[in-house]
Amino acid sequence: MSEIIGGYFTSHVPAIGGAIAKGLQKDPYWKPFFDGYPPIAEWLNEEKPDVAVVFYNDHGLNFFLDKMPTFAVGAAEEYNNADEGWGLPVCKSFRGDSALSWHIIEQLVADEFDITTCQKMLVDHAMTIPFQLVWPARDAWPVKIVPVAINTVQHPLPSAKRCLALGRAVGRALESWESDDKIVVIGTGGLSHQLDGERAGFINADYDRFCLDHLMDDPEALVGDSIAGIVEKAGTQGVEILNWIAARGALGERPLKKRTENYHIPISNTAAASLVLEAV
Ligand code: DHB
Ligand code: FE
Repeated sequence: MSEIIGGYFTSHVPAIGGAIAKGLQKDPYWKPFFDGYPPIAEWLNEEKPDVAVVFYNDHGLNFFLDKMPTFAVGAAEEYNNADEGWGLPVCKSFRGDSALSWHIIEQLVADEFDITTCQKMLVDHAMTIPFQLVWPARDAWPVKIVPVAINTVQHPLPSAKRCLALGRAVGRALESWESDDKIVVIGTGGLSHQLDGERAGFINADYDRFCLDHLMDDPEALVGDSIAGIVEKAGTQGVEILNWIAARGALGERPLKKRTENYHIPISNTAAASLVLEAV
C-alpha cells in the first residue's frame, strides 16, 4: 500500500522566489525565515516521497475571475509555470501523477464532491515557492504532483468546514491507492495577511499562533468561523489557511508529531510560517 509520510505546510509569498533567485537566504531580512526550511529539506531527504498532493490556491494564472472553480483537481502528466508578473524567473515544470489524480477524482465524485478536473493546468507561485524552498538547485523535482486548487480568491469561498471535509475525502482516497508510493501532503499559503484595502498590511499573530497550535490535534477548532470571520481574523488573503486546513484533513486520523515549525513576521506583507506534521 502507499504510505503517507506526513504534511508540509508553508507560506508562498512570491518575494521568496526573488530572494532565492538573488541568493539572499543569509541576508538579515530573510535569514529568520529561510532558517525554517533546512529541517524540512532534511526530513524530505530522509523520507524520499514519490508524490506530493498539494492543496493550494491559484492567484489568476490558471483560473481568472471569469471562471473560478471552488475545488479543482489536476489530472495532467505535466504542469507548467508561467510569468505571473512578479518578476520571478519562470520555474521548471512539474511531472504529474495522472493515475493517482484520476483515482482521487473518482473517489471525490463518488463522495459527492462536485469538483472541476483539469487535464491542462498552469501552476503559480503557490506551487513553485514551496518546492523551491525545500528542493533547491535540482534539475528536476524529485516528486510527481497532484494539485488540488481551492478558491480562496473570489467570493463566495468554500467554508473551512467544507475544506476540512474535502481534505479528509482526499485522505480516504490516498488510503485506498494501491501502490508502493510514499506520499507527502502539502498545504500552501497564509498565514495572516491582507494585501489590499483599508487594512492592507494587517497581520494577526494571535490568530496565527492559534492555528499553529491547533492544526495537528484539533483541526475542528479552525473550522468554527465563517469565511467572513476568518477574513476578519486573518485578513483577506489570510483565508489561504483553507489550504492548510484541507491538507491537514488529508492526513486523516493517523498519529502525528510536530517535527519542525517556524513563524516569522513579516515577509513582504505576510506572517510567514512553515510546519511539518510527521506521521508516526
Ligand atoms: C504576498 C502573499 C501571498 O500569499 C501572495 O499570494 C502574494 C503576495 C505578499 O505578502 O507579498
Ligand atoms: Fe497567496
